[in-house]
Amino acid sequence: MFRHSVRRFATTAVRRNAAPIPAPANAPSAVTINVSTAQGVAKGLTGAIGNTPLIRLNKLSAETGCEILGKAEFMNPGGSIKDRAALYVVLDAEERGLLSPGGTVIEGTAGNTGIGLAHVCRSRGYQLVIYMPNTQSQGKIDLLRLLGAEVHPVPAVAFDHPDNYNHQARRHAERLGAGRAVWTNQFDNTANRRAHIETTGPELWAQTGGKLDAFTCATGTAGTLAGVTRFLKEASGGRVRSYLADPPGSVLHSYIQSGGRLRERAGGSITEGIGQGRVTDNLAPDLGLLDGSLHVPDEESVAMVYRCLDEEGLYLGASSALNVVAARDVARKLGPGHTVATVLCDGAYRYADRLFSRKWLEAKGLLAAVPKHLERYIVLP
Ligand SMILES: Cc1ncc(COP(=O)(O)O)c(C=O)c1O
Repeated sequence: MFRHSVRRFATTAVRRNAAPIPAPANAPSAVTINVSTAQGVAKGLTGAIGNTPLIRLNKLSAETGCEILGKAEFMNPGGSIKDRAALYVVLDAEERGLLSPGGTVIEGTAGNTGIGLAHVCRSRGYQLVIYMPNTQSQGKIDLLRLLGAEVHPVPAVAFDHPDNYNHQARRHAERLGAGRAVWTNQFDNTANRRAHIETTGPELWAQTGGKLDAFTCATGTAGTLAGVTRFLKEASGGRVRSYLADPPGSVLHSYIQSGGRLRERAGGSITEGIGQGRVTDNLAPDLGLLDGSLHVPDEESVAMVYRCLDEEGLYLGASSALNVVAARDVARKLGPGHTVATVLCDGAYRYADRLFSRKWLEAKGLLAAVPKHLERYIVLP
């Protein structure tokens, strides 16, 4: 068991970028955002974002002798953890005077952030324009349009190409002009990370009563990992450990292990919404706080999608399953008696036609990854 965990763990070599830990998170911040009310009534949709249950994964907890806890982010109104970031980038723009009533929010996103923004923008009376690579499924485009967004699928080119979807989103906002439109820029806008410093982190701390030894999750923008890590380190006086979990095709695990050498992105993963080719502004201030990182192969993420469904009744997307694998591996590394938390980012609903399709699993070389006794869940041809 221990050898298994050693195989993929490494202690963080990158510490030099660690910014000082700020004042306690309950100290007044420069911008104070009030997202919910007392008396249990949410102030509109945005008040219903966050405060998700923390679920003990019973089977994996018994297996490891640890408490393995998953934060049920799939229960947010937009169905994912990205509702929190969407709310914070919009509120931050409002508070900075970058958005006025009837204004336009513009973002480059192919997934959950767009859905979160669509809900938040409808709820607060803004237009939403989304740029995404034209390689994305028609289903995603239809869903965003159905939620009221104007969607621009554009050629899928690398980030350093001027026509990359993120740059097109920025230029669209520039054309409309300051005060009328804002490019929310989820990757490098640190209001995203702040959502997790001010909500996800404190919720985890309160729900566990401070009895928490480690946190782990994968990164897309890294807002979740960075913000939660920052809060937990502060709240625990540095005691709670934090580990970055990386899918194939992402460079951050090797970046951390090599002490800060950024390699070219190569390969890919079936997970969506995670994996990164650079250190975003959301990650940079907290990278040095991490205690290590681990790599999770797609085979293990797929197997965990099926295990979570069968053993825990949790219908999870592949990024959540990857996080659960990572939490189990951190638990194995720490040994029995520890409490390890992660986030269950979204449900399997939008991925079901792939994750539970025999043809798709075969095409990806992942059919054998599904445990034999769980093959009955492969219900689609
Ligand atoms: C399904 C899913 N999981 C995880 C993440 C990663 O979260 P973060 O951007 O906070 O790193 C995303 C981000 O889009 C996502 O869509």
